[in-house]
Amino acid sequence: MAEKLSQSQANIIITVPKDENEMKQEEDFSAVSAFIQNFLLLAWEQEIGVLWKTGKLIHQPGFRKIAGIKEDEAIVGVLMLGKFDDVPAPKPREAIIEKLTLIEA
Ligand SMILES: Cc1cc2nc3c(=O)[nH]c(=O)nc-3n(C[C@H](O)[C@H](O)[C@H](O)COP(=O)(O)O)c2cc1C
Repeated sequence: MAEKLSQSQANIIITVPKDENEMKQEEDFSAVSAFIQNFLLLAWEQEIGVLWKTGKLIHQPGFRKIAGIKEDEAIVGVLMLGKFDDVPAPKPREAIIEKLTLIEA
């Protein structure tokens, strides 16, 4: 994993304070996720690609220790940043309307 992380030009670890209040924790997590999405869009404008990494990595005690993450902090993601030369071809997408449930009043 260390080798993988060293392939990007920079890595940013985004954390959120853990909160015993589950609702507060969810809200904080969502707020930070919205921040990350905005960060991704701004980075894209600067031709910086970002991979939002989660998975096993963010829970590994070894990784948390090396990164200096405190007990009362949760990692929302590791952002792997790199300048890109070429934009990959877009993937085929399902139309957004297919994902929506419309409730008629
Ligand atoms: C919360 C979150 C966590 C993600 N974690 C990982 C990850 O651990 N490893 C990975 O390769 N991609 C991860 N991704 C990236 C997604 O797999 C996907 O590439 C990205 O959301 C872009 O989706 P799209 O290709 O459908 O546009 C994550 C994305 C999000 C939103």
